[in-house]
Amino acid sequence: MTRNIGILGAMAQEIDEVKALLTEKTIVKIANREFVVGKIGNVRCVVAFSKWGKVAATITATLLIQEFAVTDLIFIGTAGALADGLKVGDIVISKRLVQHDLDARPIISRFELPLLNRVYVDSNPELTELAGKAVANLLDKGVDKMVGEEAVKDFNLAPTLYFGDIASGDQFINSNEKREEILVLLPDVLCVEMEGAAVAQVCLEFGTPFTVIRTISDTADHNARVDFGKFIVEVANAYSRAIIGEIVRLV
Ligand code: ADE
Repeated sequence: MTRNIGILGAMAQEIDEVKALLTEKTIVKIANREFVVGKIGNVRCVVAFSKWGKVAATITATLLIQEFAVTDLIFIGTAGALADGLKVGDIVISKRLVQHDLDARPIISRFELPLLNRVYVDSNPELTELAGKAVANLLDKGVDKMVGEEAVKDFNLAPTLYFGDIASGDQFINSNEKREEILVLLPDVLCVEMEGAAVAQVCLEFGTPFTVIRTISDTADHNARVDFGKFIVEVANAYSRAIIGEIVRLV
Protein backbone atom coordinates (compact mmCIF):
# COMPACT_ATOMS: atom_id res chain seq x y z
CA MET A 1 0.00 0.00 0.00
CA THR A 2 1.33 3.46 -0.87
CA ARG A 3 2.12 5.38 2.25
CA ASN A 4 0.04 8.45 2.95
CA ILE A 5 1.24 9.98 6.20
CA GLY A 6 -1.04 12.17 8.29
CA ILE A 7 0.87 14.79 10.26
CA LEU A 8 -0.86 16.65 13.07
CA GLY A 9 0.62 19.48 15.07
CA ALA A 10 -0.62 21.08 18.26
CA MET A 11 0.52 24.59 17.37
CA ALA A 12 -0.50 26.46 14.21
CA GLN A 13 2.99 27.95 13.79
CA GLU A 14 4.69 24.58 14.06
CA ILE A 15 2.46 23.07 11.46
CA ASP A 16 3.06 26.06 9.15
CA GLU A 17 6.72 25.10 9.17
CA VAL A 18 5.85 21.53 8.23
CA LYS A 19 3.46 22.73 5.50
CA ALA A 20 6.39 24.64 4.03
CA LEU A 21 8.03 21.26 3.27
CA LEU A 22 5.11 20.16 1.06
CA THR A 23 5.15 20.28 -2.72
CA GLU A 24 2.22 19.73 -5.13
CA LYS A 25 -0.06 21.24 -2.48
CA THR A 26 -3.85 21.19 -2.41
CA ILE A 27 -5.79 22.72 0.47
CA VAL A 28 -9.03 21.11 1.65
CA LYS A 29 -11.21 22.78 4.30
CA ILE A 30 -13.50 20.71 6.51
CA ALA A 31 -15.05 21.61 9.90
CA ASN A 32 -13.05 24.84 10.29
CA ARG A 33 -9.86 22.93 9.67
CA GLU A 34 -7.36 23.23 6.85
CA PHE A 35 -5.83 20.02 5.52
CA VAL A 36 -2.85 20.49 3.24
CA VAL A 37 -2.39 17.54 0.91
CA GLY A 38 0.86 17.11 -0.99
CA LYS A 39 4.26 15.44 -0.94
CA ILE A 40 7.33 15.73 1.22
CA GLY A 41 10.11 14.32 -0.93
CA ASN A 42 8.37 11.40 -2.64
CA VAL A 43 6.03 10.60 0.22
CA ARG A 44 2.36 11.56 0.15
CA CYS A 45 1.41 13.51 3.26
CA VAL A 46 -1.56 15.39 4.69
CA VAL A 47 -0.71 18.07 7.23
CA ALA A 48 -3.15 19.72 9.64
CA PHE A 49 -3.28 21.79 12.82
CA SER A 50 -5.00 19.52 15.36
CA LYS A 51 -6.35 22.47 17.41
CA TRP A 52 -6.07 22.25 21.19
CA GLY A 53 -7.50 19.70 23.57
CA LYS A 54 -8.76 16.14 23.31
CA VAL A 55 -12.06 16.81 21.52
CA ALA A 56 -10.53 19.10 18.90
CA ALA A 57 -7.71 16.65 18.23
CA THR A 58 -10.18 13.76 18.01
CA ILE A 59 -12.14 15.57 15.29
CA THR A 60 -9.00 16.36 13.30
CA ALA A 61 -7.54 12.85 13.62
CA THR A 62 -10.83 11.24 12.62
CA LEU A 63 -11.07 13.45 9.53
CA LEU A 64 -7.50 12.60 8.54
CA ILE A 65 -8.31 8.90 8.67
CA GLN A 66 -11.83 8.95 7.26
CA GLU A 67 -11.58 11.69 4.61
CA PHE A 68 -7.93 11.42 3.58
CA ALA A 69 -7.28 7.70 4.16
CA VAL A 70 -3.94 8.25 5.87
CA THR A 71 -1.97 5.03 6.40
CA ASP A 72 0.01 6.38 9.37
CA LEU A 73 -0.46 9.25 11.77
CA ILE A 74 2.31 11.26 13.41
CA PHE A 75 1.49 13.83 16.07
CA ILE A 76 4.10 16.48 16.84
CA GLY A 77 4.02 19.23 19.43
CA THR A 78 5.22 20.42 22.82
CA ALA A 79 4.66 19.04 26.33
CA GLY A 80 5.30 19.84 29.97
CA ALA A 81 7.86 17.64 31.74
CA LEU A 82 6.58 15.51 34.62
CA ALA A 83 9.49 13.15 35.24
CA ASP A 84 12.49 14.43 37.15
CA GLY A 85 15.50 15.10 35.00
CA LEU A 86 13.62 16.09 31.87
CA LYS A 87 14.52 19.58 30.72
CA VAL A 88 13.36 22.15 28.22
CA GLY A 89 14.35 21.09 24.70
CA ASP A 90 14.35 17.33 25.41
CA ILE A 91 12.28 15.16 23.09
CA VAL A 92 9.85 12.44 24.20
CA ILE A 93 8.54 9.82 21.79
CA SER A 94 5.50 7.87 22.97
CA LYS A 95 5.48 4.25 23.99
CA ARG A 96 2.02 4.48 25.57
CA LEU A 97 -0.62 7.18 25.92
CA VAL A 98 -3.02 7.68 28.83
CA GLN A 99 -5.78 10.21 29.59
CA HIS A 100 -4.93 11.56 33.04
CA ASP A 101 -8.33 13.28 33.44
CA LEU A 102 -10.48 10.24 32.57
CA ASP A 103 -12.35 8.88 35.58
CA ALA A 104 -15.55 6.85 35.24
CA ARG A 105 -15.34 5.28 38.72
CA PRO A 106 -17.08 3.41 40.22
CA ILE A 107 -18.31 1.90 36.94
CA ILE A 108 -14.78 1.13 35.75
CA SER A 109 -11.33 1.78 37.19
CA ARG A 110 -9.63 5.17 37.13
CA PHE A 111 -8.12 6.13 33.73
CA GLU A 112 -9.77 3.12 32.01
CA LEU A 113 -11.04 3.85 28.50
CA PRO A 114 -14.76 3.05 28.52
CA LEU A 115 -15.57 -0.15 26.60
CA LEU A 116 -11.97 -0.60 25.50
CA ASN A 117 -10.77 -2.49 28.59
CA ARG A 118 -7.50 -0.67 28.91
CA VAL A 119 -5.85 2.35 30.47
CA TYR A 120 -2.97 2.73 28.00
CA VAL A 121 -2.89 2.76 24.21
CA ASP A 122 0.43 1.60 22.72
CA SER A 123 1.93 3.60 19.91
CA ASN A 124 2.99 1.66 16.82
CA PRO A 125 6.48 0.13 17.42
CA GLU A 126 7.77 0.57 13.83
CA LEU A 127 6.62 4.17 13.55
CA THR A 128 8.00 4.93 17.01
CA GLU A 129 11.36 3.41 16.06
CA LEU A 130 11.40 5.39 12.82
CA ALA A 131 10.69 8.63 14.68
CA GLY A 132 13.43 7.71 17.17
CA LYS A 133 15.97 7.15 14.39
CA ALA A 134 15.05 10.48 12.82
CA VAL A 135 15.45 12.39 16.09
CA ALA A 136 18.71 10.56 16.93
CA ASN A 137 20.15 11.47 13.49
CA LEU A 138 19.29 15.12 14.03
CA LEU A 139 20.71 15.21 17.56
CA ASP A 140 23.91 13.53 16.31
CA LYS A 141 24.39 16.37 13.84
CA GLY A 142 23.88 18.91 16.64
CA VAL A 143 20.85 20.81 17.90
CA ASP A 144 22.42 24.08 16.65
CA LYS A 145 21.94 22.79 13.08
CA MET A 146 18.19 22.58 13.78
CA VAL A 147 17.58 25.82 15.68
CA GLY A 148 20.69 28.01 15.30
CA GLU A 149 23.29 29.05 17.88
CA GLU A 150 21.20 31.83 19.40
CA ALA A 151 18.28 29.59 20.39
CA VAL A 152 20.72 27.04 21.83
CA LYS A 153 22.10 29.79 24.08
CA ASP A 154 18.73 31.39 24.89
CA PHE A 155 17.23 28.11 26.08
CA ASN A 156 20.38 26.36 27.22
CA LEU A 157 19.56 23.47 24.89
CA ALA A 158 21.32 20.13 25.28
CA PRO A 159 18.53 17.77 24.23
CA THR A 160 18.15 14.14 25.22
CA LEU A 161 15.75 11.75 23.48
CA TYR A 162 13.40 9.67 25.67
CA PHE A 163 10.86 6.95 24.89
CA GLY A 164 8.02 6.45 27.35
CA ASP A 165 4.52 7.20 28.56
CA ILE A 166 2.75 10.45 27.72
CA ALA A 167 -0.37 11.64 29.56
CA SER A 168 -3.04 13.88 28.02
CA GLY A 169 -5.87 15.87 29.53
CA ASP A 170 -7.92 18.99 28.92
CA GLN A 171 -5.78 21.11 31.21
CA PHE A 172 -2.58 23.10 30.88
CA ILE A 173 -0.60 21.86 33.88
CA ASN A 174 1.24 24.67 35.62
CA SER A 175 1.42 23.92 39.33
CA ASN A 176 3.51 21.54 41.40
CA GLU A 177 0.36 20.34 43.11
CA LYS A 178 -1.27 19.22 39.86
CA ARG A 179 2.00 17.75 38.61
CA GLU A 180 2.37 15.65 41.76
CA GLU A 181 -1.27 14.57 41.61
CA ILE A 182 -0.70 13.03 38.18
CA LEU A 183 2.70 11.53 39.05
CA VAL A 184 1.46 9.81 42.21
CA LEU A 185 -1.13 7.89 40.22
CA LEU A 186 0.80 7.51 36.97
CA PRO A 187 4.45 7.38 38.07
CA ASP A 188 5.84 6.24 34.69
CA VAL A 189 4.56 9.25 32.78
CA LEU A 190 7.35 11.38 31.32
CA CYS A 191 5.36 14.38 30.15
CA VAL A 192 1.91 15.90 29.88
CA GLU A 193 0.04 17.52 26.99
CA MET A 194 -3.52 17.95 25.72
CA GLU A 195 -4.07 15.79 22.62
CA GLY A 196 -1.90 12.68 22.22
CA ALA A 197 -4.02 10.14 24.10
CA ALA A 198 -7.17 11.26 22.27
CA VAL A 199 -5.45 10.75 18.91
CA ALA A 200 -4.20 7.38 20.21
CA GLN A 201 -7.77 6.31 21.00
CA VAL A 202 -8.96 7.32 17.53
CA CYS A 203 -6.09 5.40 15.94
CA LEU A 204 -6.79 2.34 18.11
CA GLU A 205 -10.42 2.27 17.02
CA PHE A 206 -9.57 2.74 13.33
CA GLY A 207 -6.53 0.44 13.38
CA THR A 208 -4.23 3.24 12.16
CA PRO A 209 -0.55 3.09 13.20
CA PHE A 210 0.49 6.23 15.08
CA THR A 211 3.20 7.79 17.17
CA VAL A 212 3.50 11.00 19.20
CA ILE A 213 6.61 13.19 19.33
CA ARG A 214 6.76 15.91 21.99
CA THR A 215 9.35 18.55 22.71
CA ILE A 216 9.55 19.63 26.34
CA SER A 217 8.63 23.33 26.47
CA ASP A 218 8.16 23.71 30.23
CA THR A 219 8.28 21.83 33.51
CA ALA A 220 4.49 21.81 34.14
CA ASP A 221 4.96 23.77 37.38
CA HIS A 222 4.53 27.45 38.24
CA ASN A 223 7.20 28.32 35.63
CA ALA A 224 5.14 26.64 32.92
CA ARG A 225 4.14 29.84 31.13
CA VAL A 226 7.56 31.43 31.08
CA ASP A 227 8.87 31.93 27.54
CA PHE A 228 6.31 29.53 26.02
CA GLY A 229 5.65 31.81 23.02
CA LYS A 230 9.34 32.45 22.49
CA PHE A 231 10.07 28.73 22.74
CA ILE A 232 7.54 27.93 20.03
CA VAL A 233 8.95 30.55 17.68
CA GLU A 234 12.64 29.83 18.29
CA VAL A 235 12.73 26.10 19.00
CA ALA A 236 9.56 24.02 18.53
CA ASN A 237 8.91 25.22 14.97
CA ALA A 238 12.40 24.32 13.85
CA TYR A 239 12.31 20.96 15.65
CA SER A 240 9.02 20.03 13.96
CA ARG A 241 10.22 20.90 10.51
CA ALA A 242 13.52 19.06 10.94
CA ILE A 243 12.01 15.97 12.58
CA ILE A 244 9.23 15.52 10.02
CA GLY A 245 11.71 16.15 7.18
CA GLU A 246 14.04 13.48 8.56
CA ILE A 247 11.28 10.93 9.21
CA VAL A 248 10.07 11.23 5.63
CA ARG A 249 13.64 10.94 4.35
CA LEU A 250 13.97 7.63 6.25
CA VAL A 251 10.62 6.16 5.12
N1 ADE B 1 1.79 21.52 26.45
C1 ADE B 1 2.98 22.10 26.70
N2 ADE B 1 3.14 22.29 28.04
C2 ADE B 1 2.04 21.81 28.63
C3 ADE B 1 1.60 21.73 29.98
N3 ADE B 1 2.36 22.19 30.97
N4 ADE B 1 0.39 21.18 30.22
C4 ADE B 1 -0.38 20.74 29.20
N5 ADE B 1 -0.03 20.79 27.92
C5 ADE B 1 1.17 21.31 27.61
